[in-house]
Amino acid sequence: MTLLEPGMVAVVTGAASGIGRSIAEALLDRGLVVVLLDVERDAVMRTVAELEARGQRVEPEVADVRDPVALDAVAARVLRRHGRVDVLVNNAGVVGPRRRAWEQTAEDWRWLVEVNLLGVAHGVRSFVPAMVAAGSGHVVNTASVAGLAPVPGGGNAPYAATKHAVVGLSETLRADLDAAAPSVGVTVLCPGPVPTRIHDSERHRSAPAASEVPVLAAEGLGPLEPVPLEQVGRDVVAAIERDRFYLPVGVGTAELARARAEQVLHGLAAAARA
Ligand SMILES: NC(=O)c1ccc[n+]([C@@H]2O[C@H](COP(=O)([O-])OP(=O)(O)OC[C@H]3O[C@@H](n4cnc5c(N)ncnc54)[C@H](O)[C@@H]3O)[C@@H](O)[C@H]2O)c1
Repeated sequence: MTLLEPGMVAVVTGAASGIGRSIAEALLDRGLVVVLLDVERDAVMRTVAELEARGQRVEPEVADVRDPVALDAVAARVLRRHGRVDVLVNNAGVVGPRRRAWEQTAEDWRWLVEVNLLGVAHGVRSFVPAMVAAGSGHVVNTASVAGLAPVPGGGNAPYAATKHAVVGLSETLRADLDAAAPSVGVTVLCPGPVPTRIHDSERHRSAPAASEVPVLAAEGLGPLEPVPLEQVGRDVVAAIERDRFYLPVGVGTAELARARAEQVLHGLAAAARA
């Protein structure tokens, strides 16, 4: 269990906006030094300036989580500067255009897998060895409610696939740490809809998605309700300190996840009877 204390060091990816910034601010409020990593140079420098003006200890890192060499270099710099990394938040992520599963382009699949899944894998590979060596630390991986259950309306197969993969990666990371360094914590963050810039993810691509297929209209949210941004940071800090693994955030997320789990159990029972 990691009790957060002043002087500890956190690295947050995708920290220049939305959920990453909310988590970074909650960690800063607990006195941690926070390394804000993001691919958007201007946004990360602006965020660092704003937080420094409030007297908080932040450091910028401009890097693309798709690049394992860049993440290794960030880890080396952080360890050289501070000699420790206590919290790693693998949070950077993007959404693609809403289209039916068979209408998603190969390029959209690749882009989402590289950012949302490999970005998390690279973060784990670059930073977790120092935590294992220290026998302490906590990893937060941002998945989504879409990693626990299909969300109303569909149209997001690549996103759902990568977020389920982040849940699976995190469960396996937990099992591996249980054997090698059980005091290193893991949380898989699964929020419902949060008002951020995620639906402007296309800003990260140099060329627009090449597809003639029109995108689907937005659907209702079913049982999900919008989640206030500050709640995510607060809940993540509490989950780290209570060593909670699954962290659904927002009204309706646990309900959708339970309905999906029950469907799986029914399917398994039917298969056993057949
Ligand atoms: N907003 C939601 O409704 C919601 C719900 C559940 C989960 N999530 C997840 O939360 C995470 C954060 O998303 P958000 O909603 O805050 O979106 P956001 O667009 O506001 O913030 C994402 C940040 O990640 C950065 N980023 C994108 N690609 C990157 C890359 N390749 N390397 C480094 N940084 C990169 C962006 O520059 C941005 O600052 C994502 O993983 C997203 O899938 C979001």
